Amino acid sequence: MQIISDIKKTSSLCQKWRDKGESISFVPTMGCLHAGHLSLIKKAQSLADHVVVSIFVNPLQFDNADDLLKYPVTLDEDTLKLADFNVDLVFTPKANAFYPDGENQVKQIDLGSITVLLEGAQRPGHFAGVATVVKHLFEIIRPNVAVFGEKDFQQLMVIKQLVETFPLDVEIIGMPTFREQDGLAMSSRNLRLSENERKKAPAIYQQLKSIKSAINASTNIDTADFVELERRACENLTAVGFVPDYVAIRETDTLSIPENHNNSLVILVAVKLGQIRLIDNIRV
Ligand code: PAJ
Repeated sequence: MQIISDIKKTSSLCQKWRDKGESISFVPTMGCLHAGHLSLIKKAQSLADHVVVSIFVNPLQFDNADDLLKYPVTLDEDTLKLADFNVDLVFTPKANAFYPDGENQVKQIDLGSITVLLEGAQRPGHFAGVATVVKHLFEIIRPNVAVFGEKDFQQLMVIKQLVETFPLDVEIIGMPTFREQDGLAMSSRNLRLSENERKKAPAIYQQLKSIKSAINASTNIDTADFVELERRACENLTAVGFVPDYVAIRETDTLSIPENHNNSLVILVAVKLGQIRLIDNIRV
């Protein structure tokens, strides 16, 4: 396994593989790797000759300076985990090389409406930052396929939109959310929960499952019912100490507000628990 921070060296190693007719799968991450990330890497291994994992805490996508500052960095542990996983290349660019003119000078990508609702509304500029970094990473590595988690459901939609908008020629694969035994979606941010917060956190998934059951149990459900289910879930979460940003029942393909249950739906939630913001979702 090679660990390379230099951009030119990374792109020429990937080019060498491509010249030999060998395919590349890619898993972009911000490090602090957990079993959720590793499930994407396992999938990536089954898809191509070479697996590239990037570890880069991308400053462009943080709308909150404190969140960026406190984002856990565990590069040594991460590379040890990756060595066990037969990863060919770990790309660890440095921010000043990645954004040589400074982050503020970077022209960010605007992918329109998908980036301004839900997470986009709560975290202005977040998806422009994600799309910009992922496009840059794709251009350096030029993978045949890239694997992302459904845990970040809207991010996955943004990435699909990115590759439809620009000629990046990469197939995007989405993978199911990997959970702790108690249902909490794995996240690097879980490490920052206090013991008490960690005990409460599975309530997020419980609320998602309970909305899903209610939708599946109804024969005739409309927008007003969805709004009532969202309201009740917010109330339940608030009662046990969460501060919900949103609980939203949406159409899976567009994230628009559903009028009925004719199309497939996804329930998305974002809450604060103390200082930590957590997101999760479930398909119906
Ligand atoms: P990060 O949060 O490190 O996540 C990297 C990838 O792992 C993303 O595709 C994310 O959806 C996936 N992932 C995270 N938790 C998961 C879980 N519990 N189960 C399955 N997959 C999970 O997402 C980012 O980094 C960044 O925005 C990035 C795409 C790297 C751009 O900077």
